[in-house]
Amino acid sequence: MRKNIVAGNWKMNNTFQEAEELISVIADELDEKDLQCEVIVCPPSIYLEMASDYGEESILSIAAQNVSGYDNGAYTGEVSASMLEAMGISYSIVGHSERRKYFNETDAQLAEKVDRLLDYNMKPIFCIGELLEEREAGNHFNIVESQLEKGLFHLNKDEFLNVVVAYEPVWAIGTGVVATPEQAQEMHSFIRGLITKKYGVDIAEDTTILYGGSCNASNASTLFANKDVDGGLIGGASLNADDFIKIIESF
Ligand code: 13P
Repeated sequence: MRKNIVAGNWKMNNTFQEAEELISVIADELDEKDLQCEVIVCPPSIYLEMASDYGEESILSIAAQNVSGYDNGAYTGEVSASMLEAMGISYSIVGHSERRKYFNETDAQLAEKVDRLLDYNMKPIFCIGELLEEREAGNHFNIVESQLEKGLFHLNKDEFLNVVVAYEPVWAIGTGVVATPEQAQEMHSFIRGLITKKYGVDIAEDTTILYGGSCNASNASTLFANKDVDGGLIGGASLNADDFIKIIESF
């Protein structure tokens, strides 16, 4: 069955003390609640060990923000899927638009990262989404289709069952300009349609498709009310425990 998920992508924010305070408050508060979704926290990699300890003692799942496309070896500065898996990390974001833009990650490299995660029984949270100029030119569906085909559609059915898709229109990330519920639903339904064509309706119906981009405590419930929006990948608003918990309670 399709899972609702709210994931907090902390990006490159917080000192160790701030990170630990934030995750401990979130874990404590959620302990008393009857949740309608899985909650994932994605801290910077240097805090993953600390976060995984909180994950073990709470209902939180922990995700990395990035993973190497290589297996272990002479790759200075990289963190491998096997290292993450051994630390109890169950997910990793792959292909965030900031990685595509600032670190020139290509579709082919992202497909490698997805494969490494699956090698170690981890789940990719695979990000796709168009630039503003691509939407204005009417190319947004083509862009999203191409990102899915190149990054994910090499997987077989069993592999694809482990994937979470995150639609993050780049023009909505960190801008305060959120997609309308209609825009989000239209694209999520398009994405589910592509998955149906490739893998069949059962797998498509079971795939979690998250929305990301200026999602906050005020707009989350209208976004999540759409039938193909299964939760959110939250940036800025996940850095504040109260806001993040309000979003989690938006189902
Ligand atoms: P904001 O919620 O800050 O717009 O960021 C969204 C995002 O990029 C999550 O990965």
